[in-house]
Amino acid sequence: MELERQKDYKEMMLKYEFAKKKIETDIEILLQEYAFKEGYNPVEHIKTRIKSIDRIVEKLRRKEQEITVENIVKYVNDVVGMRIVCSFIKDVYTIVDIIRSTGEFVVKSEKDYIEEPKDSGYRSYHMIVLTPIHLEGRTEYIPVEIQIRTIAMDCWASLDHKLRYRYPDRINEELEKEIIDSANDMLEIDKKMQYISDVLNKNEV
Ligand code: GTP
Ligand code: MG
Repeated sequence: MELERQKDYKEMMLKYEFAKKKIETDIEILLQEYAFKEGYNPVEHIKTRIKSIDRIVEKLRRKEQEITVENIVKYVNDVVGMRIVCSFIKDVYTIVDIIRSTGEFVVKSEKDYIEEPKDSGYRSYHMIVLTPIHLEGRTEYIPVEIQIRTIAMDCWASLDHKLRYRYPDRINEELEKEIIDSANDMLEIDKKMQYISDVLNKNEV
């Protein structure tokens, strides 16, 4: 692809690599410190990825934009994506607060798809944070999309994604409803587990 030969494309991708390294380390330190202080680790696992060029191009096409470096910067906020999977619903908000309260990132936007799930049934907390990367004589801010959700929400999202990817044209209205139902079943599990965790927490003292 023409784009991949351009120097400014290579430079842009390098900055995304730096942002990925930077945010992975920063978040890991924040959450490790929290676990140390509280004696409780809310995190099940964390995954960070750089979007492939094919997916970036696909997204620009979907947004009916020309395939240029400027448009990637302007329209694709999730070239770097981090997913933090935690145990219980309250942990999602604990992690959101931890990320918000450090001075290191500039929170550009937040969407609470747990309070307001998508029509598909999707639940998750999304943040776009600008991550500073310190380069020679200057600091640049690179956007990173962070998705925070419970393991139950993550389980649903993975299966939903797999089904839609494998059978893009075969999910009719009835199956769509089944998918939404399963998302709601997952919510019930999350609520039950949260209740149990709250009861046990109260009994601890
Ligand atoms: P995009 O331009 O597609 O990124 O839309 P947006 O900027 O409005 O982002 P949004 O907050 O809707 O979230 C996009 C990301 O959330 C996707 O890349 C998926 O990882 C995830 N996501 C959103 N909706 C769904 C869904 O219905 N099912 C699954 N499995 N994942 C979803
Ligand atoms: Mg997005």
